[in-house]
Amino acid sequence: MNKGELVEKIQELKRQKNAVIVAHSYQIDDVQEIADVVGDSLALSQYCARTDYEVIVFCGVHFMAESAKILSPEKIVLLPELQAGCPMADMITAEDLRKMKEQHPQAAVVCYINSSAEVKAESDICCTSSNAIKIVKSIKEKDIVFVPDMNLGSYAAKMAPEKNIILWEGFCVTHHRIKAAEAQRIKELHPDAVLLVHPECRKEVVELADFVGSTKQITDYASASEHRKFIIGTEMGVMHHLKKDNPDKEFYLLSPGLICPNMKKTSLKSIYDALYEMKNQIEVDEEVRLKARRALDRMLEITI
Ligand code: 13P
Ligand code: SF4
Repeated sequence: MNKGELVEKIQELKRQKNAVIVAHSYQIDDVQEIADVVGDSLALSQYCARTDYEVIVFCGVHFMAESAKILSPEKIVLLPELQAGCPMADMITAEDLRKMKEQHPQAAVVCYINSSAEVKAESDICCTSSNAIKIVKSIKEKDIVFVPDMNLGSYAAKMAPEKNIILWEGFCVTHHRIKAAEAQRIKELHPDAVLLVHPECRKEVVELADFVGSTKQITDYASASEHRKFIIGTEMGVMHHLKKDNPDKEFYLLSPGLICPNMKKTSLKSIYDALYEMKNQIEVDEEVRLKARRALDRMLEITI
């Protein structure tokens, strides 16, 4: 099948199965184009919590589809590429977190949504990169165990100095790769450009930024800004909509290394196969799901 035929078949299957396609903004351009909703982790979770479609095709990585299933257990959630995981989410287990809780019994636990259902189930509340500061500030305890992203956790600690944040040393392999010297170099190359970075970047890179935000916050900022040139410090997938929605502006990727191989696994063919065969359905153990749901619901209540 060529691309046009694949797109047509997917649209037909979507109607037959009452399915919706949601895609993270790090997905390849073709996948973003066929998706009904494109967004960051928070926007997609909010969408999945309230959608009426019977089937959600989640074009992203495993923890995202799992979060959709936790929030909408009555729906069928398909992950077109089952091998699309998040290395950061795999950097902590529920057992690791239980040990950390024993060491800090007085602390509340905030877990980044980039984590397994089991880790969420051990946590008091979830956060995403767009609401981490708000979530941390909303917690009554001064001591907060923050897992698994040390970079997002450090940024939250800087923005909420009244809190004592205890970090787990996980990181995003894609964003953490970028060093301050590289950011400095590209700033010198484009001195009139504004630097927008994701808080999964290293602390030293975040310190050089003009604006720090989630994927959606970065794209919203660039669209609303009066500036014309932007250096983008997050995964290259965001360039698709940035360029399409702002044809009069210029965008430079902070580094060619800003590419997440797991986010690039999903293709039109894998979406078609998943929908046709209704395969790669995500399941979550009910006891774990109920506990993880509490942490996600608390986040959504505070954020909405
Ligand atoms: P956001 O979707 O919150 O911007 O997070 C980026 C990310 O790395 C998702 O895996
Ligand atoms: Fe995980 Fe980073 Fe890829 Fe997001 S970009 S899925 S945090 S490895």
